[in-house]
Amino acid sequence: MSGALDRELAYHEKLYSGFAQQHFAKPAVRSMRAHLVRRILALTGADRSSRVLSLGCGIGDTELLLAPHVGEVVGIDLSPTAIRQARSDAAKLGIANASFQQGTSATGRYDAIIAVFFLHHLPDPELESLPAQLRDWLVPGGSFYSLDPSRNRLSGVVGRLLVPGLMKRYQTEDERELDAETTGELFRRAGFDTRVSIYDFGSSPLAGLFPGWASGYRLARRVDDLLLRSAALRRRGSNFEIVSKVA
Ligand SMILES: C[S@@+](CC[C@H](N)C(=O)[O-])C[C@H]1O[C@@H](n2cnc3c(N)ncnc32)[C@H](O)[C@@H]1O
Repeated sequence: MSGALDRELAYHEKLYSGFAQQHFAKPAVRSMRAHLVRRILALTGADRSSRVLSLGCGIGDTELLLAPHVGEVVGIDLSPTAIRQARSDAAKLGIANASFQQGTSATGRYDAIIAVFFLHHLPDPELESLPAQLRDWLVPGGSFYSLDPSRNRLSGVVGRLLVPGLMKRYQTEDERELDAETTGELFRRAGFDTRVSIYDFGSSPLAGLFPGWASGYRLARRVDDLLLRSAALRRRGSNFEIVSKVA
């Protein structure tokens, strides 16, 4: 295993040993996940007949919300602790069409592939080679969706100034914010029709800071929908989405 992968594994094994489970179960984070699932369904066109692969699925909380709306979800993650939690939650909730595998690679073909807060954890060579790899995992006409922190985000600047300890706690040593357009370009070069857009401004950072405050999240999400109409504010938005279709 490479040094970066070892460090990712060590960080996430610790994160998924209790903190993530508690944090992700809080109402604002659940509301953010529910919003994200609606977004994924709308943008990928995934429906009850679709097979969906999730890269870097963590404890599978997004995937278990997605499962009732699609045919099948397969999640993969480097962390064995995360996979154990995802499997246990799927069993507890009686969700039979979601399965989870520990690892860094997938088999089979999928109608949609999602990667939620995953690409920015990949070292540059792996990130650069991922789009070509995705072509082997997607059926003709299949879609890819990703969400990652933007290098230009205002919330990053504010967070580093006001809550540097918290920012560090939430981040691995090797992850970094990504440039939205440069990342999208990797997908275009691999022959994907690709759209890059900003997902949020303050709502997801607020859910991270105040995970118990669901009504605050919902209000911030509505404010985001207004703010993101401004091109100037979009440039300083927090997280960007890539939606790619096999051309
Ligand atoms: C920021 S977390 C996101 C997890 C989840 N998608 C979420 O939204 O909570 C990144 C995840 O990617 C996993 N990961 C990092 N590098 C990986 C790799 N090369 N292959 C598979 N999983 C990886 C980590 O174990 C971690 O669970």
